[in-house]
Amino acid sequence: MYNIEWNDSIIIGVPSIDEDHKKLVEMLNELFAACFAAQGPAMLSKIVDELVSYTKYHFEHEEGILAEARYDKLEEHKAQHLELVKQVEKIQANLQQGATHKLSNDTLKFLNHWLTNHIQVEDKEFSPLLRQQNVK
Ligand SMILES: [Fe+2]
Ligand SMILES: [Fe+2]
Repeated sequence: MYNIEWNDSIIIGVPSIDEDHKKLVEMLNELFAACFAAQGPAMLSKIVDELVSYTKYHFEHEEGILAEARYDKLEEHKAQHLELVKQVEKIQANLQQGATHKLSNDTLKFLNHWLTNHIQVEDKEFSPLLRQQNVK
């Protein structure tokens, strides 16, 4: 079973963004736990719906901050966000169609890897810029 542990390596040092990330990690862990407990499709759909909307909310929030800070890699960063939204929406659509009553191990692995990797690598890259501007 997957579980993302919230630790220093995921913290980027911008409080409002760290808060969002923490919530995302919690939601993902909730999804992992539900899959492990073999919860039904309705339950999984509900969690994935929440994950999709929270992910969209977070990306908008983060992109707004980055635009204001004039982050030079904003367009590339936005493209990565869009890619993840597409992937998560694909999972959402599959669940809605009832095609999969259970999320595959590959799907969970993908989400686990994507989220931690994006935060630890891509989001960490803009951390110095925001901290320099004292963005909270
Ligand atoms: Fe982020
Ligand atoms: Fe990001």
